[in-house]
Amino acid sequence: DSKDFDTIESVRARLGKDLVILAHHYMSDAVARHADHTGDSLELSRRVPGLEARYIVFCGVFFMAETAAILAKPGQKVLIPEMNSRCVMSDMAPAWLAAKVLDRLEEGGLTATPLTYVNSSAAVKALVGARGGSVCTSANAKTMLSWAMARGGHTLFLPDVRLGLNAADWIALPKEDRNILDIREHGQAIDLERARRAKLLLWPGQCVIHSRFKPESIRKARAESPGCLVVVHPECHPNTVALADACGSTSLIIRFVAEAPEGSTVYVGTEFNLVNRLAQQYSGVKVVRPLLHSTCSNMEKITEPNLARLLENLDGSPSVEVDEALKEPAKLALQRMLDACA
Ligand code: 13P
Ligand code: SF4
Repeated sequence: DSKDFDTIESVRARLGKDLVILAHHYMSDAVARHADHTGDSLELSRRVPGLEARYIVFCGVFFMAETAAILAKPGQKVLIPEMNSRCVMSDMAPAWLAAKVLDRLEEGGLTATPLTYVNSSAAVKALVGARGGSVCTSANAKTMLSWAMARGGHTLFLPDVRLGLNAADWIALPKEDRNILDIREHGQAIDLERARRAKLLLWPGQCVIHSRFKPESIRKARAESPGCLVVVHPECHPNTVALADACGSTSLIIRFVAEAPEGSTVYVGTEFNLVNRLAQQYSGVKVVRPLLHSTCSNMEKITEPNLARLLENLDGSPSVEVDEALKEPAKLALQRMLDACA
C-alpha cells in the first residue's frame, strides 16, 4: 500500500548510496519498482563485486542472496526480506548428497568436473569450487558446459536436468554421451558402467514451475494464434524448448519480447509475474500472453510489506551469512564463471 511505498522510498532517500536494492525479474511490480537494479541471475551476480553500499538488499530467492553474500566485500551487510524464500530446485541437490555422488563416481574410477547451476546452495558451490568445478546460469550454460567439458573426463551437471540437457543440445553433444544419474541410496544406485560411457552426467533435479510448460501448451498457443511467437526459459523440458522460437534467461526473454514486431502475439513460458509485467508494458502495441499461468510461490514470498519492514530495521535484522569455511571455495567456483564469461 502507499504507506509501505513511502516507508521504502524514504529509507532509500535517507541512505542514498549506502543502500542498494537488487531485484530478480520475477519480483512483483510492487517490489521491482523500488529496485536500483533488476536483472537475471547472471547480471545480478555480476553487479555485486562492484557495489560499494553498506547494505545490499536482495529481492529474490535465498540462493541469490547467498550468492551476493559470497561475492560481497567484508563489512557489507546482505539482507533478504524473507529468509524462507527457497528455490525448490536448489533444495533438490543438498551438498552432502552431491559430495556422496562425487565420491561414488571417484570410487568407480570416474573423475568428474562438477558444474552447478547458480540455483544451488553456498555449500554446493563450495563443494564444486573445491573439486575444480564452476557455476553457470541460464544465460551462460552453453559456454560453461563447454568450459567444463574442455577439462576432459566427465562433467557432473547439477541440479537442473532440463537446463543440462538443453545446454547439451546447444553444444550438439550426442545423446549417447548423456546419462541421467540415479542418485538413490546415497549414490550407491548409480550404474557406473553407464556413467562411464557418458561424458555428461546429470543430476535429476527440476523446476516445478517450468515443468508445467509442455509441448502441448505450445501447440495449443500456435493453434489459437497462428503466426504467434513463443519464447521459453531453459528450465523447460527439451521437448518444449524444441517447439519454441527462442529460449533463454529471463533477460533474454525480455529482449525477445521487446524486439518482437508491433502487432505480434508472443507467448512466454516462464514465471507469471514477469509475463504479466511484459503484458502490461506492451499493452496496445503487442499481445504478450503466458503459455500458462505458473507462479513461483517462493519468489512471491518477497512482498512490498516485508521489504518495508526490513528497511525500517536494517541494523537489527539478521544478515544472510555464509560459513567462512565455505566462502572461499564457493567464491572460487563463481569466479571461474565470471572469468570464463567476462
Ligand atoms: P534467470 O537466471 O534466467 O533469471 O533465472 C533464474 C530462475 O530461477 C529461473 O527460474
Ligand atoms: Fe527456483 Fe523454479 Fe522458482 Fe526459479 S522458478 S526460483 S528455479 S523454483
